Amino acid sequence: MSSPLKNDRFLRALRREPVDHTPVWLMRQAGRYLPEYRATRAQAGSFMNLAKNPELACEVTLQPLRRFPLDAAILFSDILTIPDAMGLGLYFVDGEGPKFERPVRTAADIARLGVPDMATDLRYVMDAVSTIRRELDNAVPLIGFSGSPWTLACYMVEGGGSKDFARVKALAMNDPAAMHQLLDVTTDAVIAYLSAQRAAGAQALQLFDTWGGVLSPSMYREFSLRYMQRIAAELPRGEGSDRTPLILFGKGNGAYVADLADTGAEGVGVDWTIDLGEAVRRSGGKVAIQGNLDPVTLYAEPDAIRAHVGRALDSYRDGNGGSREGHVFNLGHGMSPDMNPEHVAVMVDAVHELSAR
Ligand code: CP3
Repeated sequence: MSSPLKNDRFLRALRREPVDHTPVWLMRQAGRYLPEYRATRAQAGSFMNLAKNPELACEVTLQPLRRFPLDAAILFSDILTIPDAMGLGLYFVDGEGPKFERPVRTAADIARLGVPDMATDLRYVMDAVSTIRRELDNAVPLIGFSGSPWTLACYMVEGGGSKDFARVKALAMNDPAAMHQLLDVTTDAVIAYLSAQRAAGAQALQLFDTWGGVLSPSMYREFSLRYMQRIAAELPRGEGSDRTPLILFGKGNGAYVADLADTGAEGVGVDWTIDLGEAVRRSGGKVAIQGNLDPVTLYAEPDAIRAHVGRALDSYRDGNGGSREGHVFNLGHGMSPDMNPEHVAVMVDAVHELSAR
C-alpha cells in the first residue's frame, strides 16, 4: 500500500539491523532555535494555535529536515494535549511554560477524568500526522509520541512545571489508590492516543518519561515503570518487520535500563548521565538504545562537538561487542531556544561521518 521509505536507517537501527551510518534525530528538533519556526509561530499567534493547525504543524515539523540530513521526523505537537483534551484547560505563560486552569488535586477530581475521544477531541493531532506523512512522501519515517502516564500526572497535579514535584509526590504517598486511578485512566488515554497516531501514519512511537527520574527507586517502579510496562504490553503495533517500534525515553533512567529493556519495547532512550556502553550492557541486547549527547554540547565549539559525538559513538560500539548496530543517535534531552543551528549541522554531520562503515 505505502511505498518504501527512501531512508529507513532509523527503523533498521530500532530492529538492531545493520545500517550504513548511525541514524540521528534530535528531541525538540523543531522549535524556537530556528528563525523559520519563530516566523511560523508568530503567524499562528500562539503555540496551541500552531499545534492545532495541521498545515502549520506540518510546516514546522519539516523545517529542521530542510536544513539538516536528519534520519527521522517527529510530529510537532505537545505531550500536554491529552490532559487538555481531558478538560484541564492548557495554556502557556511566556517564560513560565505550560499551565492548567483546572489542575487535578483530589480523589474527586480524579474520579471525573475520562479517556478523550481521539476522533473528535484529538482529531487535530491525527490530522497533523496524516498531513505530515503526505508531505514527507516517504523521505524519512515519522515519529509519533506521548508523555508517559507519570510525566502527564506530574503536570496534571502540579498544574504546570515544578521544581520539587511536592504536590504530585505527596498525593502518591498520601493516597496511592487515587494516584493509581489517575495513572490508570491516563494509561488508557496514552494507549488510545498512540494507537490513533499509528493508524494515522506514525511509523515509530516514543514515550517521554521526562520526570520518572525524580522518584525514589521504589516509587519509580510503582508509579512510572509499571505503567510504561502496561503500555509496552498492551499497545497494538503489528508484527515482524511491519512492527511499529516503541521507544521509552526517560531522564535519569540509567538505573532502570534493564527493567525498561524487559518491557517488550523496541528501544530505550537514555540521558547523558549513563555511558552508552553501560546502557547497552544493562539492556542485554534486547532493545535498541537511543541517545545520549548532553544537549549543552551544542553550546561548545565545532571541534569539541565532533569529539563528544565520537565519544558517544565509541562508547556504544565498545559496549555492543564492537558493532554499531542498534544505536539511534540523539541528545540526552531536548534542545533549547538559544542554540545555534550551525552547531546542529556540525553534530548531525559528525554522527554520519564518524559512524560510516
Ligand atoms: O521534538 C520535537 O521537535 C517535537 C515537538 C515537541 C514539543 N514538545 C514542542 C514544544 C515535543 C516532543 C514536546 C514534548 C514535551 N512537552 C515534553 C517532553 C519532552 C521533554 O522536553 O522532556 C514536555 C515535558 C512538554 C511540556 C512543555 N511544552 C514544556 C516544558 C514546554 C516549554 C515551555 C517554554 O516556554 O519553554 C512546552 C511548549 C513547547 N512544546 C514548545 C515547543 C516547541 C515551546 C513553545 C513555543 O513555541 O512557545
